[in-house]
Amino acid sequence: MQTQQLEAFWMPFTNNRAFKANPRILVAAKDMYYTSADGRQILDGTAGLWCVNAGHGRQKIVEAVQKQVAELDYAPPFRMGHPGSFELAERLIALFPEGFDRVFFGNSGSEAVESALKIAIAYHRVRGEASRTRLIGRERGYHGVGFGGISVGGMANNRKFFGSLLPGTDHLPHTHNLEKNAFSKGQPQWGAHLADELERMVKLHDPSTIAAVIVEPVAGSTGVLVPPMGYLERLRELCTQYGILLIFDEVITAFGRLGATCATEYFNVVPDLITMAKGITNATVPMGAVLTRKGIYDAFVAAASERAMELPHGYTYSGHPLACAAALATLDVYQEEGLFDRAKELAPYWQKCAHHLKDLPHVIDVRNIGLVAAVEFESIPDRIGDRGTFCLQRCFEKGLMVRATGDIIALSPPLIITKEQIDRLFAIFAETIQELP
Ligand SMILES: Cc1ncc(COP(=O)(O)O)c(C=O)c1O
Repeated sequence: MQTQQLEAFWMPFTNNRAFKANPRILVAAKDMYYTSADGRQILDGTAGLWCVNAGHGRQKIVEAVQKQVAELDYAPPFRMGHPGSFELAERLIALFPEGFDRVFFGNSGSEAVESALKIAIAYHRVRGEASRTRLIGRERGYHGVGFGGISVGGMANNRKFFGSLLPGTDHLPHTHNLEKNAFSKGQPQWGAHLADELERMVKLHDPSTIAAVIVEPVAGSTGVLVPPMGYLERLRELCTQYGILLIFDEVITAFGRLGATCATEYFNVVPDLITMAKGITNATVPMGAVLTRKGIYDAFVAAASERAMELPHGYTYSGHPLACAAALATLDVYQEEGLFDRAKELAPYWQKCAHHLKDLPHVIDVRNIGLVAAVEFESIPDRIGDRGTFCLQRCFEKGLMVRATGDIIALSPPLIITKEQIDRLFAIFAETIQELP
């Protein structure tokens, strides 16, 4: 590609100047591999952006989308419907743990988060507790890029450019502590007490002002933070005690990533709302969704007159026919191939391979859960992120896609990965770590 061809596109979450000087262009993908513009096979160590859980170019999904676009390209979701969105909502409720009875559709994780936050605040209002408007997130949380999401999110760089954000938010402390938890395999032992900070906030703000707490059960984009044993349970207890809705942002963790349908199932802690996106369509067509616990929708219905809509919120592309077709076919693939169980079976091998990196130079932590792992490098003083960026680039040159957040490398391959491919992935990664500046 000519350099000038790259200029017009203002790339998201990218150092545009660096990328355009040294582009990494992908032109095709099949199963576990991308093909780069220079014709090389790149092993996908990240399922795209944590989203291509069934691997690339899956025939069944491709055909479902092709058929749908030819049959019904679009149907308005306001006051109109099409069969796919109703069928998909039913399938999701059947697939996810007991206790949820409605699905609201958007087009991304960010929209799912905005929808969940709005539903939470509105839920209290329709029940006569309109003073419950405060939203509590967590330091280092990532909930997409809407104003709600960045306000409850806790990644400073994603917030500082954008003014005063939503009023009335607060943040729990994050759970990342290398002194206590470095090189944990699965859930760390230390840190459940950090959930008790919610109690302090309840005292400060009073429960009558708090609508919801939102957390990623396993924080992904911030560099893979696995919840300490007992932490999510404690959050659930406190939210129940104080009438606060608990939202699990499962945009990364739903659809098999942990070796279960979702983190709610994996940790056996049930929130009031679940956000999802990414793996819902295997990333072929954008889609996000919110699953709501029994009783939430009913509260809206009870409060609205028969002639009024219950929730004035939605998107032109809520439940888009192509996304629904893609999602239905994706769920079939997950089920027919038992991919969530496959992830569970591979997880011990994955863990073993990841922790083999422990003694390599500059490695200060390895952490993992399900088919996710992160390796944290000691940062070079005044050059934070350089080792992560170097690693991403060198791995790509050697035929492996990894994800870098600062000096943390996250790995989250498609769930179809084989043991041989896991070996290859970690071999390239280990070789690259030896070359770090
Ligand atoms: C937990 C979580 N929530 C929300 C989002 C935002 O999703 P999207 O980029 O589809 O808007 C992400 C994206 O990585 C995520 O990891």
